[in-house]
Parts: sequence; C-alpha cells; structure tokens
Amino acid sequence: MRVFEHVDLSGRNSFHVSQRAARLIEFDKADELPALFEQYRPERWMVLSGGNNILFTCDYDGTLITPCGCEISIVAENDSEVEVEVEAGLEWDDLVQWCVEHNLWGIENLSLIPGKVGAAPVQNIGAYGVEAKNAIRAVTMYVPESGKFLTLAAEHCDFGYRESIFKHSLRGKVIITSVTFRFGKEPNPVLGYGDVIREVEARGGATLRNIREAICDIRRSKLPDTEVLGNAGSFFKNPIVDVEIAERLRADYPEMPLYPVAEQGKVKLATGWLIDKAGLKGYREGCVGVHERQALVLVNHGGATGGEVIAFARMVQERVQERFGIEIDTEVNIL
Ligand code: EPU
Repeated sequence: MRVFEHVDLSGRNSFHVSQRAARLIEFDKADELPALFEQYRPERWMVLSGGNNILFTCDYDGTLITPCGCEISIVAENDSEVEVEVEAGLEWDDLVQWCVEHNLWGIENLSLIPGKVGAAPVQNIGAYGVEAKNAIRAVTMYVPESGKFLTLAAEHCDFGYRESIFKHSLRGKVIITSVTFRFGKEPNPVLGYGDVIREVEARGGATLRNIREAICDIRRSKLPDTEVLGNAGSFFKNPIVDVEIAERLRADYPEMPLYPVAEQGKVKLATGWLIDKAGLKGYREGCVGVHERQALVLVNHGGATGGEVIAFARMVQERVQERFGIEIDTEVNIL
C-alpha cells in the first residue's frame, strides 16, 4: 500500500477541483485492507475510486482509500457463458476492451464510461439501453467495522436506475474490492437506443468491435473529455415522474423525449432536454458552464471551485423547476 499525507486532489477527480485530503492510501490487493485499518485506525474514511462521479466542495479531513488492483480472473466457464472476477481498481473501459478482445458479450454498450470497475455497481452505471447490473453476478467487499470480507449476490444489491444498496444502507460502510460478472459467448446486440443501430450498420453490422467503435464515437461526439475539460459526466439524473405529469408537459412540448420504465404509471424524462429547452445549453458563469453539446453535463472551464460548481448547479435546478415544474436531482456525489 502507498500512503500520502495532505494530498492535492486536483489530479484525482475528473472535475479537477483542487481540494486536499488529510491522508490518502492506495492499496493493490484486498488482503491489505485489514492491516491498513489495524495500522491507521482511521476515524473518518471513504473510498475515492477514479474520482469521476464526485465533487469536492471542501477539504477532506479523513482518510481516502483508493483501490488499485487491476486483475481479471476467469472463475467459471461453460459453452455459453464466462464468469469473471475483476479487481476494483481496473479502469472500466479496459474491462470492456478485454471483453471485446475475448469475444464476450454484455457490456460493449458501456464502452468509454469513465471510472473504475469497483464504482460500476455503486451507481449501476448505464448507457445506450444497458446497465452494469445486467452483467454483475456478485460484489465482494471489505467491512472495516466487522473486519470481514462479504460477497453480496446481485439480487441483494438493490440495483435500480443509477441506484444500489451501496448508495444507501452500505454507504460509507464497505470497500468494494472486486466485482464478478457473467458475460455471454453468443452474440446479443442491444441496438435500440438512439443512433446506435445506424452507427453500427454504417460500420458493417453488429459485431462486438463495431458496436464498441460506434458507442465510442457517439460518446466522443457529445461528451467532453475529462482530460481536456473538467466534468463528471451526467451531473443530474433523469427524473422518473407520473405519466400524467409527463402527458401535461407533452401537450405543450410534443417533441419532448420520454422513456419507459419498469414501474407502473411512471416514465423517465430527459434532463438534458429540459436544461437545453430552458435555454441553458452552453451557458456559462465564470469558470462553470453547461456543456455545449450535452446539457446534462456541467463543466469546469478551468479553476472553478467545488462551491462555484454547486452554486451553478442549484441555479440550473431552479431554472428547470420554474420552467417545467420538474425537480432534478444530482447524480454526482457532493462532498
Ligand atoms: N437532449 C437534448 N439536449 C441536450 C441533451 C440531450 O435535447 O443537450 C435530448 C436528446 O436529444 C435525447 C434525450 O435528450 O432525445 C436524451 O439524451 P441522450 O441520449 O444524450 O441521453 P441522456 O438521457 O442525456 C443518459 C445517461 C448517460 C448515457 C446516455 C446514453 C443519465 C443521467 N445519463 O443521458 O450517462 O451516456 O443516457 O445512454 O442517465 C453518465 O451517467 O455520466 C452518462 C453520460
């Protein structure tokens, strides 16, 4: 393990805000964690993974714990499926690339999502009609309070749209050390979302490589590169509202996008569309702005503090509330 004191976090969060942490410890193997807690006995701690879905608004006076192990192990295999255990520190997109190279289906639509494997179950990352929960079989974690490791089957992870048990009853209580996935050997393309089918066909049909390439190109055309422009992907969630509310809005805005959800009597609205329609796409105040190609993304044009980003986000929420009567929640963790 590697221990850092009084760490500048600007290189460790994709918004590039420069807050500090009292201590940060990187670990490689899960079995280092009992010793880490024994030695440092942190009173206040939390996991900082890739820092892609977090906004620091102040310095952190506790210990941040960062998983760095990147191993992929095949744990079971039959004619149609492969079960793979992946350490939490692997870059998510490296796992997608590995699957494509090994002809395994399941997460190709989740290409290029920034972040690490251990963060994928926390908010059940999703894009283009696929969610991580479709492929996750189990999540293994260390529980400092009991000093034990625990493996939770996917059925017990309470996965929902950008939701899981790790955002609720297990929040701040566990450190995810690995995630077990089941991938398919047979082709199973999911092409129904937006431009995906057109882009895949333009590349010659639904192979794993073509789907990955199409998704990467769609994302690159809309979403800012965090290396160039600080951001945390979607800053807000898409709201799930009563059908009646959506129908009332549709009467005024027939072109408004709607997405079905499993829950009866509810539909999902597109926050990006709402912010765009409220006239805020590309809008900027000081160093913070709404991205010019995807209004769901807030960007740090350089030098913004977490506090400035939050103040700007509140303004966006108010404008959407005033214009449409819809409350939008943040997707990003605010600290
Ligand atoms: N739209 C606009 N203006 C905008 C943005 C979007 O009119 O500025 C419209 C689009 O034309 C489309 C609809 O809103 O009709 C939805 O837009 P899009 O397909 O880009 O997806 P999204 O709902 O804005 C969600 C995820 C993204 C994911 C995409 C694709 C959430 C919070 N976000 O965005 O995830 O990549 O779908 O599946 O669910 C992320 O979580 O960081 C993320 C990027």
